[in-house]
Amino acid sequence: MKALLCKHYGTPDDLTVEDIADPVAGPGEAVVRVKAAALNFFDTLIIAGKYQTKPAMPFSPAAEFAGVVDSVGEGVTGLKAGDRVLGYSGYGAAREQIAARADRLVPIPDTLDFDRAAGLCVTYGTTLHALKDRGHLRNGETLAVLGASGGVGLAAVELGKLMGARVIACASSDDKLAFVKKHGADDVINYARDDLKDALRNATGGKGADVIYDPVGGPYAEPALRAIAWQGRLLVVGFAAGEIPKMPLNLALLKGCDIVGVFWGSFIERDPAGHRANTKQILDWCAQGKLSAHVQAVYPLADAADALKALAARKVMGKIVLRP
Ligand SMILES: NC(=O)c1ccc[n+]([C@@H]2O[C@H](COP(=O)([O-])OP(=O)(O)OC[C@H]3O[C@@H](n4cnc5c(N)ncnc54)[C@H](OP(=O)(O)O)[C@@H]3O)[C@@H](O)[C@H]2O)c1
Repeated sequence: MKALLCKHYGTPDDLTVEDIADPVAGPGEAVVRVKAAALNFFDTLIIAGKYQTKPAMPFSPAAEFAGVVDSVGEGVTGLKAGDRVLGYSGYGAAREQIAARADRLVPIPDTLDFDRAAGLCVTYGTTLHALKDRGHLRNGETLAVLGASGGVGLAAVELGKLMGARVIACASSDDKLAFVKKHGADDVINYARDDLKDALRNATGGKGADVIYDPVGGPYAEPALRAIAWQGRLLVVGFAAGEIPKMPLNLALLKGCDIVGVFWGSFIERDPAGHRANTKQILDWCAQGKLSAHVQAVYPLADAADALKALAARKVMGKIVLRP
């Protein structure tokens, strides 16, 4: 089978597409024919050796996928050849077949196409965990989303609306803001043009945002925290801007607020039942047409470098997907 391989840390152009042996399902595993593998921002880091996970070489990037079960290994129940599934593997999905943990595979409804299904798991999974389990977002509260047109950002806009929040979407260009408005944002802020702290305060009548969803970090986290409401929650999701911000802790004191970490990859290991319930909720909402799971572009494996460069260059709205 064909696989996109990272054989040493480097840039997207260092990746190669090669023929390797087909996988065999071990105990507790299933082999899935990958119809679509979705990329996340962290794939740009994992191939450079700058991510917390450092797989043995050679490995394939892409943490999530959708496809059809080809075979199952010893001890696997509830799955059979021919089932349409989505899965999360952490890495390794940018290839024609993957041997994956069967307990990480979830059947998908016939109405959900493979491209959209592939990119659901990490973005909406992280965000539902963040808003519900960590941020305790309540009906009627104000939610500010940074990087709102990106993968997890768009999920936060859509899930925030479904949970009854007023959503203020923040991004770096008017095109991105028009895109998130189309996906339900109530108000928008261009933080490349306007001062984020002042704009957030103005948009909330001086009260500040109850919950701030921050997958960007860099220069935006502190101004956002300065515009948080009394007893608000700042959700620390990621650092796409590169720099990990350092916060003056007097802000937490003065606002009586919480600075809350979100680590979905660890959550799904520590609370598999909670993760299953969240995934079921996401798939139900998807089947009801309430989540877009928007895919901006689909690339063949051979063009994976272009896909990763688009992510690193801040050019992607929603998800991009590889079709092996
Ligand atoms: N905590 C968790 O469990 C968890 C789970 C999944 C992902 N994450 C993290 O969440 C972050 C976003 O992931 P994603 O896959 O949604 O990424 P994405 O689709 O690339 O979106 C990231 C957004 O960040 C903004 N950004 C600001 N400066 C940037 C820069 N220098 N380079 C790239 N983007 C920049 C961009 O929006 P603007 O141009 O509008 O600023 C972009 O839309 C990553 O740091 C990822 O590791 C965390």
